[in-house]
Amino acid sequence: MDFEDIETVAVLGAGNMGHGIAEVAALAGYEVRMRDIKEEFVQNGYDNIEWSLNKLAEKDHLSDEAAEEALERVTALVDVDAAVGDADVVIEAVPEKMEIKKDVYTDVEKYAPEDAIFATNTSSLSITELSEVTERPEQFCGMHFFNPPVRMQLVEVISGEHTSEATLETIEQLAEDFDKTPVRVRKDSPGFIVNRILVPLMNEACWLVHDDVATIAEVDSTTKFDMGLPMGSFELSDQVGNDVGLHVLEYMHEVLGEPYAPCPLLEEKVENEQLGKKTGEGFYDYEDGGVDIPT
Ligand code: 3HC
Repeated sequence: MDFEDIETVAVLGAGNMGHGIAEVAALAGYEVRMRDIKEEFVQNGYDNIEWSLNKLAEKDHLSDEAAEEALERVTALVDVDAAVGDADVVIEAVPEKMEIKKDVYTDVEKYAPEDAIFATNTSSLSITELSEVTERPEQFCGMHFFNPPVRMQLVEVISGEHTSEATLETIEQLAEDFDKTPVRVRKDSPGFIVNRILVPLMNEACWLVHDDVATIAEVDSTTKFDMGLPMGSFELSDQVGNDVGLHVLEYMHEVLGEPYAPCPLLEEKVENEQLGKKTGEGFYDYEDGGVDIPT
């Protein structure tokens, strides 16, 4: 698939990342099919895109007309065939579990055009292993966006062992056309570049609180105001989803070893369904004041 021939982008998964990626593609002028397994999930994703576009228009990042046109380019559906049947690129953003992703690719392979590129938004899992369940491993790569996709500039474009140079170049051009900055990750390694650095940082913040060295607010004050990150570590963990961070760590722990062992404080949050902003509560309570970090 050449970049010039891409017109239709299918996004699998309408969650935090999926709806954001669909929004980015629609804003860049592509026809977008956003698919999830239940009507309520796709509706929720669609509503989130609408909220975000309205917010961008309200803040003068785009006109009301551009927001409306972008929304019109998004079709939300549950049927896999209808979602990927005429797709030029399929971007998959389903939950961060190897088995779920493999099942999705086995299914999608039956309906997607032979020349369509498959790009996974996985946060850490092996691109090579995922590509091997398809019949097109050379047309398969990672395309990793950051949360929230509509506001974050970077996209990691990750090569698996079988990925062709042509596929990587097409996806890099697509990322640029999405008005993003692609960075190539040359080797398929857990967490790629960003999460290899960022997720252990969030985990280390948890150990500090777990070991009674500091409070959540004190750690966040340090990471935000002294280290100059745009958000505190716990604020960021709530933004990306504590479950997402934990899945990345578990995989890094499994492949890279003991230094990546998840902190029990993070495990507890996930067990208690305190997943962050998306559930209304994580390390902070978003229904009761939200983030309050001393400067
Ligand atoms: N769409 C539209 N508007 C949005 C939005 C979205 N998706 N998300 C937030 N906003 C709005 C907020 O509602 C807020 O509006 P309000 O002022 O009316 O309440 C406004 O954006 C805030 O924007 P500002 O520009 O005023 O605020 P900031 O300067 O703080 O920028 C930010 C916000 C860009 C999110 C910034 O805080 C930031 O860069 N945070 C770090 C995020 C980050 O590092 N993400 C990557 C995480 S790692 C990852 O995702 C990988 C994964 O695999 C784990």
